[in-house]
Amino acid sequence: MAISIKTPQEIESMKKSGQILAKVFEVVEKQFKPGISAKEIDDLIHQEIIAHHATPSFLGYQGYKYSSCISKNEEVVHGIPYPDKRFMPGDIGSIDIGVYFEGFHSDAARTFWIDPIPKEVEKLIQITEESFYKAIEQAIPGNTIGDMAFALQTHAETHGFSVVRDLCSHGIGKKLHEDPLIPNYGTKGKGIKLKEGMTFAIEPMINMGTYHVLTLSDKWTIITADQKLSAHYENTICITKDGAEILTSIC
Ligand code: MF3
Ligand code: CO
Repeated sequence: MAISIKTPQEIESMKKSGQILAKVFEVVEKQFKPGISAKEIDDLIHQEIIAHHATPSFLGYQGYKYSSCISKNEEVVHGIPYPDKRFMPGDIGSIDIGVYFEGFHSDAARTFWIDPIPKEVEKLIQITEESFYKAIEQAIPGNTIGDMAFALQTHAETHGFSVVRDLCSHGIGKKLHEDPLIPNYGTKGKGIKLKEGMTFAIEPMINMGTYHVLTLSDKWTIITADQKLSAHYENTICITKDGAEILTSIC
């Protein structure tokens, strides 16, 4: 499938979608307190999205029954918001949300934690976020997907962490997942060239131990093969002539 180039007007709709998502995260962050369950968080996310006259992108996607993915500790991504998945001191949780508005999706994830957490875990979360920024520093027209991937991978590995390989960043727009598939590891100069008007969801999934992952019997939850912790950070971005613009953070 070809990579879709969005018109300025389409980008405006994606921005609106992304701004709703950013506002949902502001509410979630305030409520992420000891004892809260993943189901309670998902209910909150659902209500907030609907309140903005938008639709949760994940609900109904390939039979998925929830408005978010909530992945705790060794869960990498696609964690189901079960009612007995509760966050207590020392736990970390990645919350992944998609919003559909004016015909366009936006997709973002953040990793939250309940204090206290060890320094090394704090570092994992920080490096995961930073590796996203390293990638988008390279997101300029004429650079390639490999340039972004290389920068992301180098940052994570230099700090002693590993990059999940079985799941990728991706194009996004009228569909939640569009071409191209963007590995979070790679080689400078390889892969397709970036062009103005392309929109991507860049989502590093970074592990403390091995990059190998497994899928649980619920067919959704992905966990680390060694059950060490994993963090996730994601934003929807647009390639402009001057570089990447983030569509899913408050501006
Ligand atoms: N943000 C996730 C991704 O890009 C989407 C979750 S899949 C769903 O992989 F089924 F939950 F929607
Ligand atoms: Co995504």
